[in-house]
Amino acid sequence: MKIPRHVAIIMDGNGRWAERRGYPRVFGHIRGSTRVKPLVREADRLGIRALTLYAFSTENWLRPEGELSVLWRLLKKYFVKEFQELQKKNIRMRVIGEIERLSPEIRSVIDPIQERLSGNTGLQLNLAISYGSRRDLSRAAKLFAQDCVDGKRRPEDMSEQLMREYLWTAELAELSDVDLVIRTSGEVRVSNFLLWQSAYAEFIFSELCWPDFKPEHLRACIEEYSGRDRRFGQTASQTSQAKEFQ
Ligand code: FPP
Repeated sequence: MKIPRHVAIIMDGNGRWAERRGYPRVFGHIRGSTRVKPLVREADRLGIRALTLYAFSTENWLRPEGELSVLWRLLKKYFVKEFQELQKKNIRMRVIGEIERLSPEIRSVIDPIQERLSGNTGLQLNLAISYGSRRDLSRAAKLFAQDCVDGKRRPEDMSEQLMREYLWTAELAELSDVDLVIRTSGEVRVSNFLLWQSAYAEFIFSELCWPDFKPEHLRACIEEYSGRDRRFGQTASQTSQAKEFQ
């Protein structure tokens, strides 16, 4: 099987999963949060190098207060409960997004754990929290403009390679490019997720809601990805020649 180096997942459908069963929406988030651990384990086992999970978007701040407080509680719990296992498995976990918008209480949990895992060299696990790709890109433009004003860069320095260094995914370096985006729940859209980074990604849209998405479904997505012909804008014969030389 051809294993994608960077997989990004839009964990969608928690609310619908719960509502269809007559439960409050937050029950879907609770069940959905239990799916993260086995997924991370499977990604690690398969040799995926980077896994980015869309946990909370810049638009999700508009959700009802009660739902937000459950989401924060679940995220906090995940960090605290999983720290030991992530450390043992040499997994590096980092948050990408507007971390400065999170409450001091959440930061006091996330920051030290992120710091303690920062030297790990195995699977790169990125949790996108208060993340939006338009915010990512506009922030990058601002940072670059400031570097120009400060005399550290010139406008003509900007390139696709340099742009990467200004995005929230900068620390992933050559792993920033996403190979496979999976979205659950049957919705077929990108929802402001990793627009730059997934420029040449393959997309798989699963009908399953996130709380039903299990490791075997990740494996099925990877099998499907394996069968895709990635041409990066070239012709099939060019890419097959390139493969022969690899
Ligand atoms: C989308 O479902 C999901 C979210 C907005 C939150 C995702 C959060 C989790 C899976 C739990 C916590 C995460 C971690 C990493 C522990 P939705 O509510 O938009 O579903 P709907 O489209 O059916 O309403």
